[in-house]
Amino acid sequence: MNRKTTFIFFTLCLFIALISGCTSKSIEAFKQPLNTFSITGSVHEMNLYPDPPPAFPEHEGKAEFMSYCAICHSLKYITMQPDFPAKTWDAEVTKMITKFHAPIDSVNAKKIVEYLVSVKGKK
Ligand code: HEC
Repeated sequence: MNRKTTFIFFTLCLFIALISGCTSKSIEAFKQPLNTFSITGSVHEMNLYPDPPPAFPEHEGKAEFMSYCAICHSLKYITMQPDFPAKTWDAEVTKMITKFHAPIDSVNAKKIVEYLVSVKGKK
């Protein structure tokens, strides 16, 4: 074998060793949780990141807003928005009902829009 062939041969060996090493490692990693964690007989606690719901000011309609608008997503969806004029909040609540099927009747929808306008309306 000349030097070039030897070099190619060893490179190939190294490559094969690397590949087989990776494969067996990933199989081990896959097996590990099954062997090391027992799920019988004890409750495991999860440490969630602190993520308190945003505080909303007291005002007429708050109860309706808090209960209906958090059914599908975080109330942060509302705090993330800029202050909107009444027309935009009305359209937003209507969109939640017509497009995403939020189960909100027209009386509560009106209360919610009024609440949003008073606490996050464009002045
Ligand atoms: C039936 C489920 C549902 C309910 C109830 C609901 N939403 Fe949503 N909302 C959605 C979905 C779905 C999206 C879009 C999520 C996304 O794009 O990630 C959304 C998005 C939003 C957004 C982000 C802007 C946008 O238009 O995408 C705002 C603001 C919002 N909702 C406000 C509200 C308010 C206010 C209420 C209460 C009246 C409400 N939502 C109730 C389903 C709902």
